[in-house]
Amino acid sequence: MTFYNIFLVFVLAVAITTGLAAEVKVESSIYKVIEETGKANIFVSFKKNDIHSIRNQITVQKHVTRGDRINSLQEALKNHADTTQSGVLKAINSYRPLQNNPTVEISSFWITNQVYIKHADRNLVEQLSTLDDISEITQEKIFSIKNPLRNLTEVRNSSAEPQWGVAAIRAPEVWASGNAGSGVVVATIDTGVRGTHEALRDGFRKEKGWYDPIYGTLAPTDVDGHGTHVTGTIVGRTLGIGVAPGAQWIACRASDNDGNFPASAIIACAEWVACPYDSNGLKNCSLAPDVINNSWGGDREFTDLDYLIEMWESIGITVVFAAGNSGSGCGTVSSPGTHPKVISVGAIDENSRVTSFSSRGPSKLYGTVQPNVAAPGSKIFSASNSDDGVYKEMMGTSMAAPHVAGLAVLLKSARSNLTVSQIRRLIVVGAQPTVVSGQVCNGINDRQYPNNVVGNGKIDAPLSIAAIGTVGSSSLKVAAILKYREFSAVSLLVLLTLKCLVL
Ligand SMILES: *[C@@H]1O[C@H](CO)[C@@H](O)[C@H](O)[C@H]1NC(C)=O
Ligand SMILES: *[C@@H]1O[C@H](CO)[C@@H](O)[C@H](O)[C@H]1NC(C)=O
Ligand SMILES: *[C@@H]1O[C@H](CO)[C@@H](O)[C@H](O)[C@H]1NC(C)=O
Ligand SMILES: *[C@@H]1O[C@H](CO)[C@@H](O)[C@H](O)[C@H]1NC(C)=O
Ligand SMILES: *[C@@H]1O[C@H](CO)[C@@H](O)[C@H](O)[C@H]1NC(C)=O
Repeated sequence: MTFYNIFLVFVLAVAITTGLAAEVKVESSIYKVIEETGKANIFVSFKKNDIHSIRNQITVQKHVTRGDRINSLQEALKNHADTTQSGVLKAINSYRPLQNNPTVEISSFWITNQVYIKHADRNLVEQLSTLDDISEITQEKIFSIKNPLRNLTEVRNSSAEPQWGVAAIRAPEVWASGNAGSGVVVATIDTGVRGTHEALRDGFRKEKGWYDPIYGTLAPTDVDGHGTHVTGTIVGRTLGIGVAPGAQWIACRASDNDGNFPASAIIACAEWVACPYDSNGLKNCSLAPDVINNSWGGDREFTDLDYLIEMWESIGITVVFAAGNSGSGCGTVSSPGTHPKVISVGAIDENSRVTSFSSRGPSKLYGTVQPNVAAPGSKIFSASNSDDGVYKEMMGTSMAAPHVAGLAVLLKSARSNLTVSQIRRLIVVGAQPTVVSGQVCNGINDRQYPNNVVGNGKIDAPLSIAAIGTVGSSSLKVAAILKYREFSAVSLLVLLTLKCLVL
């Protein structure tokens, strides 16, 4: 073989490798970003991916406690991730320039079976694109609080107690029956929480109760104020701000100091919430919360984070999302709120009218009516992050969603064995008509329920709680609805159909 031949063979080999490399889909924006900044934050996904079948297997197995079940699932998914990812992780770790680049970070996620690389350079991406185990390489998405509507006023005191939103959903009537949410834990994945606030400090579950994947802080903190405010609405104990003041909270901070929610932080929070661990990495899946309230999202619909939602559903965590603040046009709801397994929430004002900003359905992705329900989201008075005794008013569907999370807590406290789908249904069944706006979205007038303006209507705590007695008995369910709702024959039919679908 002449030198030329050898060279030719070499060229061919390179061509073949490059040809194979075309099988690994590298999102084009990655090279663009690397060209501009020298580096990109990327997710590596794998061809072998058995998350669905593993989850289905474990879910049907018998386990003594919920913690045992989550633990089995977490360990099976972790093993799966370790096996599928090991070749690629080895290749990454043997990539020389990496060891000289202190800003590179590599994380392995079991909940999505992905490897995350912060600050990958072009060479590394090119090398990865030749590896056979990889299905695709995508750029990290950055989420945000959906079109945040900021604080209106900051106040030290309020005479109203309970606050109008808490009263409007009649939570105090449930408290009067002895249920303020005790025994239930809610997690917020948000901008953090001012843990020392007078409304919140006594409800904090200290054991494995805080995680900050970006900055590694050891105690709850919130530089933004959004997370403190919403956590106050769910579990706040002072001035009547919280829907479920007897419950406990834990929190994962998924945002950076500029209010960005990088996907890697959200996924890290999702893993932590499923099996909370402390700063020594000691996990305890029995400490998983019952309800999660989420503030982050996209400004459109997407499926990127469906794994997280499906995982939470399968381990018995009720998930609540805001519909978004992109109204009043039809079809303005955004993900992940439109996923069929979560509860999406629109916002109404003190007069029980839908707010103009509240995003309207339908979901273009799933073709469903959205939001599912509506809750108070205008002029909501709750805890401020600026000082321990300070409160402020904010508005947005972000302020409506925690009212629903609070109701989910009350339901779970009333009967701890309710499933996620039962809780979702009880919240929907209790919902009441709002003031008609006349808006028609996707052919449905908001006189009918459910509609694309307020979903099934305004949530109502005592009615949802009362309906618990009907769980598992279909005739009683209908009776409960008939008793509390005013219907035209058509809306009754719509509701019954809906119930059949949901049951
Ligand atoms: C929110 O409140 C803070 C603290 O009082 C204030 O500094 C800030 O300007 C307010 N933001 C808006 C948009 O009103
Ligand atoms: C809060 O306001 C109420 C009524 O507006 C007042 O009676 C009370 O003294 C105030 N409390 C504080 C701590 O300022
Ligand atoms: C995990 O948490 C549960 C519930 O608090 C507790 O009973 C159990 O002892 C904990 N397990 C470990 C290993 O810490
Ligand atoms: C609750 O969910 C809403 C809707 O997604 C969100 O805007 C709000 O920030 C969340 N609250 C907490 C404490 O996570
Ligand atoms: C749930 O708890 C209720 C009351 O505590 C009980 O009657 C019911 O049988 C339980 N359901 C299941 C599926 O365990």
